[in-house]
Amino acid sequence: MSLPALPAANPAAELALAGGSARERFTAFLTDDASEQVVKQCVFEMALPNSSVHRGNIGRVVNHLQSVRSPTALMVDVSGSELPVTEIHKLAEVCEPGVSVVVVGDRNDVGLYRNLIRAGVSDYIVKPLTRSLVHNVLSVQLDTGTPGAAAAAAGFSHQKLGSVVAVLGTRGGVGTTTVATSLAWYLANNETRRVALLDLDIFFGDAALALNVKVGGGLREVLENPTRIDELYLERTLVLTGKRLYVLAAEERLDVPVKFDPEALPTLFEPLRKQYHYIVVDVPRHSGSFIQQLMDEAAIRIIVTDQTAHSIRDTVRLRRFFDAPQANQRNIVVLNRSGELGKNDISPKMMTDTIGMPIDVTIPYHPKSIIAAANAGTAVTETKGPVTTGIQDLASELIGRRETKRRRWFG
Ligand SMILES: Nc1ncnc2c1ncn2[C@@H]1O[C@H](COP(=O)(O)OP(=O)(O)OP(=O)(O)O)[C@@H](O)[C@H]1O
Ligand SMILES: [Mg+2]
Repeated sequence: MSLPALPAANPAAELALAGGSARERFTAFLTDDASEQVVKQCVFEMALPNSSVHRGNIGRVVNHLQSVRSPTALMVDVSGSELPVTEIHKLAEVCEPGVSVVVVGDRNDVGLYRNLIRAGVSDYIVKPLTRSLVHNVLSVQLDTGTPGAAAAAAGFSHQKLGSVVAVLGTRGGVGTTTVATSLAWYLANNETRRVALLDLDIFFGDAALALNVKVGGGLREVLENPTRIDELYLERTLVLTGKRLYVLAAEERLDVPVKFDPEALPTLFEPLRKQYHYIVVDVPRHSGSFIQQLMDEAAIRIIVTDQTAHSIRDTVRLRRFFDAPQANQRNIVVLNRSGELGKNDISPKMMTDTIGMPIDVTIPYHPKSIIAAANAGTAVTETKGPVTTGIQDLASELIGRRETKRRRWFG
């Protein structure tokens, strides 16, 4: 059997792969010849379509997945690695969240097994590999079609899923769309995450416009008739821009009212969370009944505000939507347009005292970089500048890196 070569890491190949048709069902990277031959033999015997087996360590897999779509199931080899769990965390940053990851290693160590499972891995198998061992693991990972099935079968449920990030502004024009689009762009391009950007203002939303993306049809249908949602439908509805950023937006006619199905958001988020690390949602404030639903679904709620009395009043009014976060939820307050009103700006201290929440990230008012980006039809984060630095801080806050940096600094 001749196995396909590694897909080329060029933009054309990536575009084709991003479309979904070329997403592999199973990909394996093994560090030694004997293991590689065993897995190749199993792939052949099981007649797995759309699969490939390669030689390489986990570092090579991380590089590979930066330029192609993740397979449904992935086998990686951590033999010889001093910090296998750290390497798995690095892999998780580039691998799509819903992928079943089987780790092969040379250490027969229960502690390592537990740590890998905790890190989201579906199974850990120790060398030397045998055909029956690989056969059994692959049958569980692939036949059920449920990622993380082995872990679930073992009584764990560690399947990695992406996070919904809701971005909500305290007043019109505060910069919600700017924050949502540039954060999504930054995560996709500078943090190599797969990101879906969803603009829920289907009449006046301008997130797609901000990124110079032509909106496709289909979002209205998704919101009105969620039973139609499946992976294939979403692949046709989301529009790819750049490498890993997918946009779901609409420009609906104003004279045709939309009837949202209350099940639409959970039904939409379920498949998206399997394929994207982040689902960034530009939330219109007038979205009525589903604001609360969205705030409940979101792992991260970003509240964009500015230093005006109007914003402070509305932050206090909106608080009921994001008060009392659950254990797995976080609120991040972003102060945008900082310094816009000069002396008339309400001080950050007074703001914090009034709204009763700390300001986590500050983005300065900097029309020069915003206008330059708008004229170029790109996200402001494509070039360095004060707004990009603010978005970078926000991305680090989201990923959880900022805390570590701070600790190191003081440590
Ligand atoms: N930090 C900033 N510095 C300068 N201009 C900014 C900044 N943030 C946003 N803007 C500009 O302010 C205007 C409003 O921003 P944006 O459209 O992002 O706000 P919004 O809250 O989404 O508005 P809407 O309520 O209409 O949806 C835009 O022209 C945008 O380019
Ligand atoms: Mg907006």
